[in-house]
Amino acid sequence: MTRHLFPDGFIWGAATSAQQIEGGRHEGGRGESIWDRFAASPGKIADGSNPDVACDHYHRWRKDIGLMSGLGLDAYRFSIAWPRILPAGDGAPSEAGLDFYDALVDGLLEAGIRPFPTLYHWDLPQALQDRGGWGARDTARIFADYAAVVARRLGDRIDQWVTHNEPWCIATLGHEEGHHAPGHLDPAEGLRVAHHLLLSHGWATGVLRDTAPGAKVGIVQNHCPAYPATDSAADRDAARWFDGFFNRWYLDPLFRGAYPGDAIADRIAAGHLDGPDLPFVREGDLEVIAAPIDFLGFNYYSRVVMKAGPEGRPEAVRMAPPEELTDMEWEVYPEGLHESLVQVARDYAPRKIYITENGAAYDDPPDAEGRIADARRIAYLRDHLLAAHRAIADGVPLAGYYAWSLLDNFEWGFGYEKKFGLYAVDRETRQRTPKDSAHWYRDVVSANGVDASPSPQTQGESRAYDH
Ligand code: FCB
Repeated sequence: MTRHLFPDGFIWGAATSAQQIEGGRHEGGRGESIWDRFAASPGKIADGSNPDVACDHYHRWRKDIGLMSGLGLDAYRFSIAWPRILPAGDGAPSEAGLDFYDALVDGLLEAGIRPFPTLYHWDLPQALQDRGGWGARDTARIFADYAAVVARRLGDRIDQWVTHNEPWCIATLGHEEGHHAPGHLDPAEGLRVAHHLLLSHGWATGVLRDTAPGAKVGIVQNHCPAYPATDSAADRDAARWFDGFFNRWYLDPLFRGAYPGDAIADRIAAGHLDGPDLPFVREGDLEVIAAPIDFLGFNYYSRVVMKAGPEGRPEAVRMAPPEELTDMEWEVYPEGLHESLVQVARDYAPRKIYITENGAAYDDPPDAEGRIADARRIAYLRDHLLAAHRAIADGVPLAGYYAWSLLDNFEWGFGYEKKFGLYAVDRETRQRTPKDSAHWYRDVVSANGVDASPSPQTQGESRAYDH
C-alpha cells in the first residue's frame, strides 16, 4: 500500500462554526442572529429544528478541545458569533461574549492547537438586519469595527484570521434564492450584498493588520468547478456562466481588482443590473478589496455539470448515479478538487491556500455495539486528500486541510439531519461518539499522510479511543 506523505509542517485541522455548534442562545447576553430569526419562521428549516442548543458547545467546549487533542489536530477552525460580541451589532461589546472566546483560545493554546477564527460565518446580528443588513453599505463599516473589537481582545494570541466564510452563500442563498437567512428573493440586492461583503473583508483586513501586527489574514471562498454536460458550444457557455456567477464573481475582485466582464454581461442580460456601471461600487472600493491577502481559504465539496436549458438558460444536470451522491445530493468528485486547486493557483496566484472545509454528509447509525462504521465518509476524505496531494505535487501552495466537520451539527436549512461530523452528537444527551472516520483521521494526522487503500472498509476497524 502506498502512503502519500504531505509536506513537513502541513497543518491538519477540523472546522466548525458558531451558529452550528454553540447553542447558548441567550447566555452571556448574546443577541439574536438572523439565523435565530430565520429558524423561528415556520417552514424554513427542513426538520423544524433550531440552533438554540445545537451541540451545546457553549458549555462543552473544554471536552470538545479534548476531542481535538485525541485526533492530534494542529489547528482548529471555528467562528466567532458577532451577536455574542456585540448583541446589538455595534455599540457596547459584551464582556461575557469576549470572555467566552478568550477562554476557548487559551484552552486551545494550552492543548497545543492553533486557533483559526472566522469573524463572519453567517450569523449577522438581527439588529443590523433591521437596519438593512448586508444590503446596506454601513454594515461593511460596522463589520470592520467588530473586527477591531475582537482583535483588540484576542490579537495577542491569534496569528491567523479569516474575515468571511463563503460570500456566495450569503449573497445568493440568503438574498437571491431565499434558502438561507435572511430569506430574501432579490438578485439586485444579492449583488449589492456581495460587494459589501468583499468591501468589509478589505476594510477588516486593514483593521486586523493594524490591531494585531504580523497576523495573517485571508478569506474563505467556496469553490465549485463547472463542467459542460457535452462539448457543445452552448453547454460550454453554460459552464462558463456558472463559473462567473459562483467562483469568479469573488476571486476576480479579490485578486484582480475587477468584477468579471462576462459575468457582468450575464447579470445585465438577466435584468439584475441596468448596465455595466455597478451602482454599488464607489471609487476606491476595488483597491480596498484587492489588498493582498496572506492566504486563500478554499472550501470544496463537489462540482456542477451544466447544460444549456430551454431558451439557452443554463441549468445544472445530474450525471452521477445515486451511489455517487452524498446525503446532500452532492456528487462525490475528488478530481474536481485537484483541478480547481491547480486552476486557482494558476489564474490567481494566491500566496498560500488552506483547504478550510471538505467533508461529506452520510447518516450511518451505530451498530449493536455502538460503533459507527462510516466507510463512505472515510472513502470521501481519503480520495479528496489524495486529490489535494496531487495538487501539491503539481506545485499548488497548499499548506493545510480542515475536515468539515468535527461534530454533527445544525446544517442550516437542513437542520440536524445532514451529518458531516467525525463525531456523532446524540440529539437528546449531546454525547459525542467517534465515528470510524475519527479514528481514521487521527491516523492520517499522526502519519502526516494518507494510504491509498483499495477498499475503504479495510480502514474501518474499531479501536479503543481515549477522550
Ligand atoms: C459550507 C458551510 C458550512 C457547512 C458546509 C456543509 O457551505 O460553510 O457551514 O454548512 O457547507
